[in-house]
Amino acid sequence: MELADIDLLSPDSFTGGVPHEWFTYLREHAPVYLHPEPAGGPGFWVITKYDDVVAFNRDWETNSSDQDRGGVVGLGEMPPGDFEQGGKLMLTMDPPDHTRYRKLVNKGFTPRMIGALERHIRELAAGIIDAAVKQGTCDFVTDVAAELPLEAIAELIGVPLEDRHKIFDWSNRMIGSEDPEYVVSAEATTTAQIEMFMYAQQLADNRRAEPRDDIVTKLLEADVDGDKLSEMDFNLFFLLLAVAGNETTRNAISHGLDAFLQHPDQYELLVEDPGRVARATEEILRWASPVMYFRRNTTRDSDVRGHHIAAGDKVSLWYISANRDEDIFDEPFRFDVTRDPNPHIAFGGGGPHFCLGASLARLEIRVLFEELVQRVPRITPIHDAARLRSNFINGIKHLPVVLHAPAHA
Ligand code: HEM
Repeated sequence: MELADIDLLSPDSFTGGVPHEWFTYLREHAPVYLHPEPAGGPGFWVITKYDDVVAFNRDWETNSSDQDRGGVVGLGEMPPGDFEQGGKLMLTMDPPDHTRYRKLVNKGFTPRMIGALERHIRELAAGIIDAAVKQGTCDFVTDVAAELPLEAIAELIGVPLEDRHKIFDWSNRMIGSEDPEYVVSAEATTTAQIEMFMYAQQLADNRRAEPRDDIVTKLLEADVDGDKLSEMDFNLFFLLLAVAGNETTRNAISHGLDAFLQHPDQYELLVEDPGRVARATEEILRWASPVMYFRRNTTRDSDVRGHHIAAGDKVSLWYISANRDEDIFDEPFRFDVTRDPNPHIAFGGGGPHFCLGASLARLEIRVLFEELVQRVPRITPIHDAARLRSNFINGIKHLPVVLHAPAHA
């Protein structure tokens, strides 16, 4: 293999599976690599070693997330300012703005707030699995994996049952996609954004009129050093939650099941002892790395592993590669539900933007598989997983399976 064979920009490079052989090659031969861009673009740095990804992720002063310095999520360019109405997502701010914002929203994500959801999430998971078992065969992605995050987010932000699929539809339209199955027009994306803002505003008005013991009320009441969330802040946050919390968790769950189909012995370990699911959840996250990379823009010159990275360069931090780094993980290509320690960085490598929803996502994945292994001792595939066409989200679109429930169930 040669470096010239590697094309991380094309979503087609990912449709047959994550090109792990490229990342393995990069980690060994070019851990800090200036990837070319078409049409004479300046290129972007590809960082693939675990220690480097963590160091870059934490050094936000050098590696900025600020939208106004260029795109910070994907590798494509975005115009400064996310939205015509003004305002930025927290994901696209640097400290100290980000710190103020994050302190406010953290109030809605305390371990107590998330822990209080467990009983309800378990009921939701059980209901979703029971319905799928009744069918016998199902598309595990659409029937099971997509349902729980959607219902959990809706529950979290207090969206009534009958409106839940609106969130799903909006978030799908908001993300847009390079996959032909989901392609949406720019117009549809904008309409989704406007509809979502209007919905968020109405929700906020309702909670202001009738406060409840829920996250929306907490967020609206939150006050840090005299700061409060503005209406625009709240709307943007609502949007970020609906988008960031859905597809990521869905893909972690889908990849988890796909890994169990490839490694049935690992599923049996959990059927034998569902107490093992908490540890297995971490291995599923490492294995799946649903967000494959995040991008930053550099603010100053630095020298890393003999390369000069100049101020203004684009840098991409590849979590999917760091999570298979052979210097950190023993036999990184072995799916091992008992792996310990498992310091994966599927939620980011630390630093100010560490995933706000990490404990919620962990809770959902754990509870779903705890309920699954106790209800369905054996699952067999009907077809291979159909993969999402994307170089950013490690996604599975469909995974048809047979759920073999015990005869007495
Ligand atoms: C398995 C599921 C998930 C994965 C793999 C994931 C991954 C990530 C990653 C990689 C980041 C960026 C970290 C960085 O730049 O340092 C992030 C940020 C974020 N995630 Fe998640 N996420 C997941 C689930 C969720 C859920 C369920 C929610 C919401 C309830 C959520 C909300 C957010 C938010 C709001 C941010 C931005 C935080 C900030 O800018 O301070 N995520 N996530």
